[in-house]
Amino acid sequence: MKRLFAAAVMTAAIALPTVSAAQDKYPERPITIVVPAAAGGPSDTVARLVADAMQADLGQQVLIENAGGAGGSLGTGRVAKAEADGYTLLLYHIGVATFGALYPTLPYNPGEDLASVGLVTEVPMTLVGRKDLAPSDVAALFTWLKGEGANATFGTAGVGAVSDLCGKLLVNATGIKMNVVPYKGTGPAMNDLLGGQIDLMCDQTTNTANQIKGGDIKPYAVTTRERISILPDTPTLAESGLKDFEISAWHAIWAPKGTPEPIRQKLAESLAKALKNPTVIERFAALGTEPVSSEMATPAALDEHFQSEIKRWSKLLAGSAKQ
Ligand code: MLT
Repeated sequence: MKRLFAAAVMTAAIALPTVSAAQDKYPERPITIVVPAAAGGPSDTVARLVADAMQADLGQQVLIENAGGAGGSLGTGRVAKAEADGYTLLLYHIGVATFGALYPTLPYNPGEDLASVGLVTEVPMTLVGRKDLAPSDVAALFTWLKGEGANATFGTAGVGAVSDLCGKLLVNATGIKMNVVPYKGTGPAMNDLLGGQIDLMCDQTTNTANQIKGGDIKPYAVTTRERISILPDTPTLAESGLKDFEISAWHAIWAPKGTPEPIRQKLAESLAKALKNPTVIERFAALGTEPVSSEMATPAALDEHFQSEIKRWSKLLAGSAKQ
């Protein structure tokens, strides 16, 4: 036993410097950020902007891997089960806080199996229609949806995606009915809205702002409490009669549980720097959003926000679990 113990101490003694040496040298190879939604969509847009800035800071490639499907719960699971070495990360959003409530047989626990790195941005959303949709404003739209438009199609990125959560809140608040058409992300859903194959979406400004400005889709409302500067003429749902209606897509970066603290700290510092990067700030602003403050781009701030969102949404979604 003594010799084994001595051997164990030796091995540990040898292992310890190796582990911390690896942490010191982190990152030694490319990092992959998994975005559980299709390429070209709003979360992908945010991820690629932040990845470019972090890559410059960390001195290693930061690659994006798109893994859409089931509202993002599949790609999120990929990260929850990945090696906890700092080389596989997740960039996604508010949806992660709802997967436990919506997918009763989820093979991982988002609130426990993901370790926080930091919040990134909080993107406003817009209720938009295909450009030739008849109703001219929100009131007319809801009347139409309760009558002639009762079979309207509503594109989402699947159960638990924020485009789906917005739809659920709208249905709860108005009693409207819509035929939900799920996609692997709102990037492909937008193509069908532009093509007139679907009627409506509730999607992030990072995916809708340019289409709205180009007159290619019809804006009905924004989902924030206040109007947003890039769409000054678009009313809020709250001012259109849905008092207190509010949802926006807060985005964050997570690592697999067990990812060493010093590595998470290094990633959080790199994220905080990236969010101060002038190109990131400028591009976010052009798409109707902004980076979170440095205080929010920390593991502790995300921990607190994430756990409180899990609680909030499990109440809001009680009874809506996917059968
Ligand atoms: C996306 O990037 O496709 C969206 O974030 C999906 C969603 O609506 O949640």
